[in-house]
Formats: sequence, C-alpha cells, structure tokens
Amino acid sequence: MGMLAGKRALIVGVATDRSIAWGIAQAMHAQGAELAFSYANDRFRERVEPLAASIGSKLLMPLDVTVDAEIDAAAALVKSAWGHLDILVHAVAFAPREAIEGSFTANTSREAFRIAHDVSSYSFTALARATAPLMAGRNGAMLTLSYLGAVRSIPNYNVMGPAKASLEASVRYLAADLGPKNIRVNAISAGPVRTLSAHGIAGFRTMYGGFKEVAPLRANITIEDVAGTAVYLASDLSRQTTGETIYVDGGFNILGLPVAEE
Ligand SMILES: NC(=O)c1ccc[n+]([C@@H]2O[C@H](COP(=O)([O-])OP(=O)(O)OC[C@H]3O[C@@H](n4cnc5c(N)ncnc54)[C@H](O)[C@@H]3O)[C@@H](O)[C@H]2O)c1
Repeated sequence: MGMLAGKRALIVGVATDRSIAWGIAQAMHAQGAELAFSYANDRFRERVEPLAASIGSKLLMPLDVTVDAEIDAAAALVKSAWGHLDILVHAVAFAPREAIEGSFTANTSREAFRIAHDVSSYSFTALARATAPLMAGRNGAMLTLSYLGAVRSIPNYNVMGPAKASLEASVRYLAADLGPKNIRVNAISAGPVRTLSAHGIAGFRTMYGGFKEVAPLRANITIEDVAGTAVYLASDLSRQTTGETIYVDGGFNILGLPVAEE
C-alpha cells in the first residue's frame, strides 16, 4: 500500500517532463494516488497529454489560472468525475521577462508587478477557494512551490521575490482559515532546479552552477528531491503540519555567507 493510496490529486503546473509538478506527480502516482492534470493553454496540451497518459491519468483539463471561469470549470470537472479531492498541487509562476533581469527598481512596472502577483500568488488562493469544498470531510492537503527570493534579495529574481513573499503569507492565511475544515496548506521552498521557468530568469545558469559548491549537502536539487517532501506533506504523516514553508534546498537557506571551499 502506498502512502497516498486512495487519495486523488489535482496537479496544476506541468509544462514539461522537467517540471517540478511532473516530479511530484510521478512520486504521488508511485505512492498510489490517482491524478488529474491541467495545462495552461493549447500550446502545453500536447506536452502534458502524453505525460498524463503515461501514468494512467484519465482526467485532463485546460486551466489558465488568471481566468476565474477556467478555475470554476476545473473544479466542476473534478467534482463531476470524482465527487471529491484530497490533494491540490499548485506549481505555477510567471513574470514578464523584462521584470526578471537587471534593476529591480527600474524594471518593476505596475503591470509586471500585477501579472507576477496574479499568476504566481493570487492563483493559489483562487484555486484553494474553488477546491476546498471538494475536500470537505477528508484530510485535504494543498501544496504550493516557493523560492528563497521570498525572504532574501536574489539578483534578477526581482518581482518574483515579492510575489513569492505574498504566496508564503497566503499559505499562512489559508492554513488558518481552512484548518478547522481539516485542510492543511503548506509550501515547499525549493533550491534551483533546471526547468522551463527557471531558464527565464537572467543568470540562472550561474546560480545553478555555483549552488552545489556551497549548499551544505553539496548537491543540486532535483524534481525527485522536491517530490519526496511533497508526498510527505500530502500524506497523513504530516497531519499536524500546516501553514509552513519547508525548504528543500540542501540547507542553502541557513547560510549567512555562502562560500565555496578553496
Ligand atoms: N525551478 C526552480 O528553480 C524553482 C525553485 C523554487 C521554486 N520554483 C517554483 O516551482 C513552480 C513550478 O515551476 P518549475 O520550475 O517547475 O517550472 P515550469 O516552467 O516547468 O512550471 C511552471 C508552470 O507554470 C505554468 N503557468 C504559467 N502561467 C500560467 C497560467 N496563467 N495558468 C496556468 N499555468 C501557468 C506553466 O504552464 C508551467 O506549467 C513555480 O512556482 C516556481 O516558481 C521553481
């Protein structure tokens, strides 16, 4: 029996087989969960469809998280197919490219700030609102993905930092609000992983390359590493943990001065 046997999960955020959401989906499937997937738009459908099919998922839906009607339709589809939901995985982020390079002060336009916060932070609350009723009477678990840029300034991460800070604060408010309904809400703050989104951030290669030289555990972070913690947070093993941001970063966040050995 897997740790997630009998549980049903909606996975929002698979774009490619390198996506963190795909790593989480594979691990949840291996632990016995039944999965539904969404794709952001038609461009991603052809990539997500074969991945979903490869692990026997029968529920696939379009979901642009900036469109309320699509969020409602996704929740309605899950309800009609399954009647309930146990796990929500939100692994979605976006900021206009010009806002994730160079000067934070100069490049954070009002519109870039709005888009980054809407797609990367507000969408989690919107999805939580739509899916919480499906978790009634179950030990529900909602998960999102954050990054150290929420609490430290990281070159080029720029407007995504405030957006992730807002996301982590939302995790605490959602956890307080939904706890009495027996729904837990947590974030995983992952170290750098080579994905489509990550490569949109200027200087990511340098950040990724230097990471394993200084992180206490001396390794880069993989989607499998993140997935292990996601399975734990979705399982009943973490039944008294909510509102937390758990780091999966080889200990990088504890360093005051990351310095490589000579
Ligand atoms: N890769 C890293 O280094 C890293 C580190 C820490 C946290 N994260 C976070 O992990 C999460 C997943 O990112 P990833 O690195 O796997 O990259 P990814 O590019 O594989 O995934 C990002 C996803 O966001 C989706 N998305 C963007 N705009 C959307 C919209 N309007 N509607 C619906 N979906 C939309 C994309 O379709 C894609 O599936 C993000 O929240 C990211 O910030 C990534």
